[in-house]
Amino acid sequence: MLTGGAGFIGSNISKAYIEAGYEVIIVDDLSTGKKEYIYPEVTFYHTDVTHPDFLEIVAKEKPDIINHHAAQIDVQTSIKNSVLDAKINILGTINVLEACKINNCQLIYASSAAVYGVPEYLGIDEEHNVSPISSYGISKHTPEHYISLYSELYNVEYTIFRYANAYGKHQIPKGEGGVISIMVDCAVKGTEFNVFGDGEQTRDYIHIDDIVKANLQATKTPANEIVNISTGVATTLNDTLEIFQEQNKVQLEVKYLAERPGDIKHSYLKNDKAKRLLNWSPEVSLAEGLKQTYEFYSK
Ligand SMILES: NC(=O)c1ccc[n+]([C@@H]2O[C@H](COP(=O)([O-])OP(=O)(O)OC[C@H]3O[C@@H](n4cnc5c(N)ncnc54)[C@H](O)[C@@H]3O)[C@@H](O)[C@H]2O)c1
Repeated sequence: MLTGGAGFIGSNISKAYIEAGYEVIIVDDLSTGKKEYIYPEVTFYHTDVTHPDFLEIVAKEKPDIINHHAAQIDVQTSIKNSVLDAKINILGTINVLEACKINNCQLIYASSAAVYGVPEYLGIDEEHNVSPISSYGISKHTPEHYISLYSELYNVEYTIFRYANAYGKHQIPKGEGGVISIMVDCAVKGTEFNVFGDGEQTRDYIHIDDIVKANLQATKTPANEIVNISTGVATTLNDTLEIFQEQNKVQLEVKYLAERPGDIKHSYLKNDKAKRLLNWSPEVSLAEGLKQTYEFYSK
């Protein structure tokens, strides 16, 4: 079972699960997900994971695993409406955990690099202090404690993924995280691309195919640990722009604006633990990933 299977990351996992021969059940309330991303091979429940109905669906379908990707992912919404954000991300995940406990399901939980907050050192590993600077960071982190507790008390097997900045097909060009999807959108529509600050800020851009691969590995063998999923490489926004334009033979109209208060200047995450525990490593280069993403959206 896959929650959030109509969204960016979930729909890509759903496709890979189908191709790998798994029976796929999707639970999604379509709040940001798209119906067209739900493949005909899956069983679909248009349901909210926070609702008691979710427990009934799991009891009926008896999945071996719940891969939980449903969430409220917008940082600004999380700050403006912390109650809603906490309800979906914290209470929703507790509901999923209850279902795992009752039905003896393994769990994959999509957490985020947002839990770390402002980095105290770079090459952020899983031992780095957790100090989120948004309600979203808090609501993604809090369920990690519950998962660890449910594992201890009820032997729920799990993998917690802390993703770096994900990009690739099906990403919605909106919000803070999706700078590459915004770049692609501007190139496709011929609109201006805004850079906040001097463009020398760095991020760790992980391609969707690598995220999917990590999920396939964890589905087979749970890590029972918190694992960063990242490239381990920091790339400046200016370099990303240059690679993007060069790979796709496009010219973006770039406008440099004032730095936004609260933006993290540099970030990249270590991925040694994922390599060790999941026999996983990132394979898609940024050049290749940017080319693939642009090709998808320009069709
Ligand atoms: N995109 C990133 O860079 C990134 C980075 C770190 C972590 N994550 C995590 O990965 C997961 C997927 O993110 P995404 O980028 O694909 O987001 P997305 O918004 O594209 O997908 C989320 C999906 O969950 C569904 N959903 C939301 N609330 C729901 C609810 N209450 N009940 C049922 N379905 C609900 C939405 O309709 C959507 O289909 C999230 O948990 C997010 O926190 C994403």
